[in-house]
Amino acid sequence: MASVTSLSDSVQQQLASALSATLPEAAGADPLLRRSDRADFQANGILALAKKAKANPRELAAQVVGNIATGDVIKDIEVSGPGFLNVTLADRAIIDNLAARYADGERLGVPLKQNAGITVVDYAQPNVAKEMHVGHLRSAVIGDALRGMLDFTGEKTIGRHHIGDWGTQFGMLIQYLFENPGELAPAADVDGEQAMSNLNRVYKASRAVFDADEEFKERARKRVVALQSGDKETLELWQQFVDESKVYFNSVFEKLDMRIRDEEIVGESAYNDMMAETARLLEESGVAVRSEGALVVFFDEIRGKDDQPVPLIVQKADGGFGYAASDLSAIRNRVFELHATTLLYVVDVRQSLHFKMVFETARRAGWLGDDVTAHNMGYGTVLGADGKPFKTREGETVRLEDLLDEAVERATAVVREKAEKVGLSEAEIVENGRYVGIGAVKYADLSTSPNRDYKFDLDQMVSLNGDTSVYLQYAYARIRSIFGKAGDRAPLAHPELELAPAERALALHLDAFGETVFEASAEYAPHKVAAYLYQLASLYTTFYDQCPVVKPAPAQEVAENRLFLCDVTARTLHKGMALLGIRTPERL
Ligand code: ARG
Repeated sequence: MASVTSLSDSVQQQLASALSATLPEAAGADPLLRRSDRADFQANGILALAKKAKANPRELAAQVVGNIATGDVIKDIEVSGPGFLNVTLADRAIIDNLAARYADGERLGVPLKQNAGITVVDYAQPNVAKEMHVGHLRSAVIGDALRGMLDFTGEKTIGRHHIGDWGTQFGMLIQYLFENPGELAPAADVDGEQAMSNLNRVYKASRAVFDADEEFKERARKRVVALQSGDKETLELWQQFVDESKVYFNSVFEKLDMRIRDEEIVGESAYNDMMAETARLLEESGVAVRSEGALVVFFDEIRGKDDQPVPLIVQKADGGFGYAASDLSAIRNRVFELHATTLLYVVDVRQSLHFKMVFETARRAGWLGDDVTAHNMGYGTVLGADGKPFKTREGETVRLEDLLDEAVERATAVVREKAEKVGLSEAEIVENGRYVGIGAVKYADLSTSPNRDYKFDLDQMVSLNGDTSVYLQYAYARIRSIFGKAGDRAPLAHPELELAPAERALALHLDAFGETVFEASAEYAPHKVAAYLYQLASLYTTFYDQCPVVKPAPAQEVAENRLFLCDVTARTLHKGMALLGIRTPERL
């Protein structure tokens, strides 16, 4: 693996050293380089530095220019406006750099980060015996993309699917199953759909008895105690619910074309053995106090109605542990056993107060030190076309699978329309329909900033025009098809050629892939990768319109160099989409 310094980094370095040669006190200052329409790059950091040094910015800029050796990389640099620097690169440097990326294969010359840490990503956490909804979709899609991006930068990621598999609600379910054995078919005998319909049936039936029969209610309550104290028979029944639910979860994740590792499904129950100790440590250190029998943590700045402090409940007055206790125990496990340097939670923004309190408690207890970052990237709500939280016409939450099935169905119709021209077999139509449909759902989610709400609009999602995954997938397939038409011409970099404006723009954007992924990963912002890819496809379209590759046939070297640009574009699109968890079919 050979990492390649990006052009903007080399320009940045040259500018920074020219700057400190001109103005010693500016050593280490950032010249603030940006992509620009006027030149390849523009630096506007001189203004602030001049102000600080009480110098004339244009004069200072001119001196910096005097200290730059133009040549291999920087072809031209000039002062513009109030003291900006416009930088134009040598065509040769641009193609040389891309050629080095091309030679590096899949990583495209993108370096691995130094001092990589361990990030535990808590995502895709549905609840046992419950149907998944669109909120769970967001967590899964965003979490999977973040992992892809972080892994690519060299960070080590560990997944944790903190499924809701513990708590008082299981008393009712288990007691019902105890009294009606055989209501759940063995997990090995059912598919995802059957599993969920069994679970729904048992849930409804047990709820009905629970609401109607006081004595059952009492037996269910005792069952909770038996569960928490580890009674063998109770645990076996509980396990049946978990196993059946996992069959269902896995079928949804598979539909989502997402790899979930069984060893990373570590739900609330996994921390059961730690909870009592977690509570004891908090109480002994005085972080938590007894209040009306419960063990709670107070925060000065967190207050609810009537200005009453809202506490975090570690242990209820009846001795039971809840959601907070499992999250606090999970922090201890992730920090001390998994050695995480970052704890990342991809959880609905409506739980942000919970995490604020949990993190603060863990800090006070000394479990989260200065060397560990904890962050909940609370995501927004999925809205229906009417701009209200997504519901069915009957006002129920939308079943995730119905949504995915519909997306695939629509996408398959889109694929089918063009299939004959491309010569796709029925099997390919079905496969592509799936990749396009699921890609559409993922991309629509990932292309908006995670903290914002977005509208679930299938018409828009599978549209061929605009900022959609289909548009990017078609761009990729179109490039791939060019190679079939190129005859004996093959991609080959020709650094000696002069570049057309559309070639330069495309090439410069390609060179910025790595820095985009690094920035997006550091900010947990998959939408920045999406925006980058969309712009890449647009720049490619302009290039393709203005710079013929095959017809009318350009000179041999020009054709080879353009095919080379096509291939780097294809690889970058493919890689970028893969980071987001989206496939790029070869033929579409
Ligand atoms: N199961 C929870 C829900 O459906 C999400 C769990 C989030 N993760 C966590 N560590 N609390 O709302």
